[in-house]
Amino acid sequence: MAQLLLDSVSKTYRPRGKEPVQAVKRVTLDVKDGEIVALLGSSGCGKTSMLRMIAGFEDVTEGAIRIGGKAIHTLPPAQRDVAMAFEGYSLYPPLKVRENIGFALLRERGASADIEKRVRHIAELLEITDILDRYPTVISAGQQQRTSLARALIRRAPVSLLDEPMSQLEPQLRAILRARLKDYLIEHKMTTVFVTHDQTEAIALADRIAVMEKGELQQFGTPAEIKQSPSNLFVASFIGEPPMNIFDAAIAPEGNATSISGLGPNGQPAFRLKAPAAEASNGKRVRLGIRPHLIEIGANGSADATGKVITNHWLGDQSHICFEIGGCSVVGVTDKPVEAQAGDALSVRFPLGAVHLFDAESGRALAHGLGQR
Ligand SMILES: Nc1ncnc2c1ncn2[C@@H]1O[C@H](COP(=O)(O)OP(=O)(O)OP(=O)(O)O)[C@@H](O)[C@H]1O
Ligand SMILES: [Mg+2]
Repeated sequence: MAQLLLDSVSKTYRPRGKEPVQAVKRVTLDVKDGEIVALLGSSGCGKTSMLRMIAGFEDVTEGAIRIGGKAIHTLPPAQRDVAMAFEGYSLYPPLKVRENIGFALLRERGASADIEKRVRHIAELLEITDILDRYPTVISAGQQQRTSLARALIRRAPVSLLDEPMSQLEPQLRAILRARLKDYLIEHKMTTVFVTHDQTEAIALADRIAVMEKGELQQFGTPAEIKQSPSNLFVASFIGEPPMNIFDAAIAPEGNATSISGLGPNGQPAFRLKAPAAEASNGKRVRLGIRPHLIEIGANGSADATGKVITNHWLGDQSHICFEIGGCSVVGVTDKPVEAQAGDALSVRFPLGAVHLFDAESGRALAHGLGQR
């Protein structure tokens, strides 16, 4: 229950005899009191380094970290009011699961019946009551992970850090525990930063998501902001499954309107869209993005282009159709089966409201939606 501020934090590792590694680069993150934030990014992008700096297991190379307005980045870990569930669990082998979970509380407030009650409660929440009297070496990786998570959660510390807290669990259990975890964090107003590779988990659990790549913060926003208004090409293509379709495109004025041509691999126009108003990016080479779910397939009459079907799979609740237009390969998703086979013609429409434009060089977003026709 406290505000957490990372103020232009950097981390450079200097392994002996090796090149320095710049793991985190000037990251500024303002986590509100009681907020749940996900750190999302590919392997090696600096997520664990960020958590370890907040918890005090790594020094910050530059910048400051504040909790509730107080600078904590020079304090030893035990004085930071931060609980952490580690990526590698770090359980105490000589202690039973129940002792591992209750350990921090014992240290904080001495033995009491309250501790046993809270251990049981958190064990029930995470479905590990049956292993409370076992030792960490004889339980599964998924059980170790939940023990480690329980040990961090039980403290209800001002700031909780969870490093991939459910990565070992099968999807069904994960979905159930995700909902319970969210309820618990909200009930106790816990300021939480958790790391995940899984965008579904990030979207389901977090109030805001920090998308990272190569040590840099790419965007910090609500799941809806990240999905609907990605700040650059990296975020646009990283978030969303299947990923956003991205094409080279050329923009040219056409009377009072704008013509946007998607370009094939040799720069030839593959399809053309007409936007009602003049575009600020006229004359520029841009990248055009559209999410698979937002392409209208079988758009009779108002089609923008005709594609040729490459593959068409019905997945039980949605169709994934891969097709080609002027040398561009495109993926579309519909929630109804589509009667089309490889080689068939397919009329498609790219609704202007769903079109994103990005600067071709910097990757920065220029527009999200081009107005309606
Ligand atoms: N102690 C260390 N010494 C040197 N380099 C390190 C050290 N710890 C991490 N790194 C490097 O810093 C970068 C970021 O590592 P980090 O563990 O923070 O990434 P991550 O996003 O948590 O990755 P993953 O998703 O695989 O857990 C990587 O290039 C990693 O190799
Ligand atoms: Mg990590």
